[in-house]
Amino acid sequence: MKMLTLFSLLLMALASRSQELAIIPKPVHSQWGTGSFSLNRNTVLVLTSEEQGRSASFLNEYLQQCYGFRLKTTQAPQNGAITLSTTPSSASAREGRYVLEVTASGIRIEGDTYQGTFYGIQTLIQLLPTEVSGDLAIPVVSIEDYPRFGYRGLMLDVGRHFFSVDFIKRYLDFIALHKMNTFHWHLTDDQGWRIEIKKYPLLTQTGGCRNGTIIGHHPGTGNDNTPHCGYYTQDQVRDIVKYAADRFITVIPEIEMPGHSSAAIAAYPGLSCFPEEPTEIAKGVVWAGTSSGKQVQQSWGVYRDVYCPSDYTFGFLKDVLDEVMALFPSKYIHIGGDECPKDFWKKSPFCQSLIKARGLKDEHGLQSYFIQTMEKYINSKGRSIIGWDEILEGGLAPNATVMSWRGEEGGIDAARQNHDVVMTPGKYVYLDHPQTKKEDSLTIGGYLPLETVYNYEPIPSVLTPEEGKHVLGAQGNVWTEYMANPAKVEYMLFPRLSALSEVLWSEKETRNYDQFLQRLQTQYKRYQLWKVTFNRALN
Ligand code: ACM
Repeated sequence: MKMLTLFSLLLMALASRSQELAIIPKPVHSQWGTGSFSLNRNTVLVLTSEEQGRSASFLNEYLQQCYGFRLKTTQAPQNGAITLSTTPSSASAREGRYVLEVTASGIRIEGDTYQGTFYGIQTLIQLLPTEVSGDLAIPVVSIEDYPRFGYRGLMLDVGRHFFSVDFIKRYLDFIALHKMNTFHWHLTDDQGWRIEIKKYPLLTQTGGCRNGTIIGHHPGTGNDNTPHCGYYTQDQVRDIVKYAADRFITVIPEIEMPGHSSAAIAAYPGLSCFPEEPTEIAKGVVWAGTSSGKQVQQSWGVYRDVYCPSDYTFGFLKDVLDEVMALFPSKYIHIGGDECPKDFWKKSPFCQSLIKARGLKDEHGLQSYFIQTMEKYINSKGRSIIGWDEILEGGLAPNATVMSWRGEEGGIDAARQNHDVVMTPGKYVYLDHPQTKKEDSLTIGGYLPLETVYNYEPIPSVLTPEEGKHVLGAQGNVWTEYMANPAKVEYMLFPRLSALSEVLWSEKETRNYDQFLQRLQTQYKRYQLWKVTFNRALN
């Protein structure tokens, strides 16, 4: 009997310890004590400055959603409270660093920056029990924590499928809960233009709608003959940018050029080098509605009718970017740059004479000229461009940051040329690839299990330490050709987003997949609290 009691005590201790340790991403230093702080609806949240409001609101919204109550806030220091503070002037301050002290008589979260305090809140949230009943016991612990990488990103493609403002906000919450700090918003593509531009209303009226979508894998077994429309008004964009800023998330807008521009061309055919030619429909695609003139694409892939590098196009894009830059305060503006076939530029007398007049080598030189023209404009407004690794073709624009997606090579190349890099290689962080070998739902194909994401190392081993400093971080990409609703997006995100967050935040030496899997058992329960759709199959 005694033995049994001892044994069950030991089991209980182990169980509570694994719960205690279940923080994702793993903190840099943590020291566990004994006992706990008891949190309930009478606990007070002390804010040492008004600036803590963003952190306090996030915690209160979380408590309300998951546990059904909020905490009173005050600026009056007191015992038995949760106290949020920030020491912005500290000489050694680093973005995102915080300390979190839980004792039986109070909780203190102190950030080097307000962002750091916010991340302390995220850790506190993960110390809450996942069972919702009675007082919430928070284990005694002392944590010091900070991120490994400055760029911790997640992208969402709203061109292929449109997602509501509410879902974008939920997506931003997912980013925040994982201590990530960048939302790359892919706003335009061949299948839809999703951002209101006041000077060019047809972009959303015409370009924001396609008459149907293929059924099944490209080129499809038919067409659903259902219009797929949607765009964000500028007011909605401002609201989303603020929602993100309240979570210390920067939103980087992507306006694709020169390729993936069918929706813009459908709205303003003069943007094509061949305005009179009807849109090319991919072989085998069953089309909905009229196919005459320029159309928004109804299937996936890469299309040859791209922006013509004319004065009209450059004027248009500068106007568009003026409105975009007024909405988004981000340092970076993403100009796409990927998958731009050169066929139309090859057959265009205008492009050929431009190549000669500018002394360019070929159409790749023309792509470089295109990107550099836009870069000069964006730089003149005090911003910087970021683009997919094809912007290396024909010579990299002088201040460009490269998003390496076709592998690690683009990133390696750019870092060696002293350019900053964000790593997004398909093999490791394309979250549209299925995470299991036997995937029942329709996906784009490929295979990216949780373990591969978890073990990804963003700094390529071939780089010298100096070159490696150009790797700002990495980003998960969620392309939505085969994700038509939020539940599918979540199913593809989770649990891989949790793995990615640890790649970006935690020290490389402390990462351990088996140990991560143990912590993931508790994270699954959090997903349930968040009412998230997720995939439990591991390979
Ligand atoms: C991309 O996946 N085309 C950047």
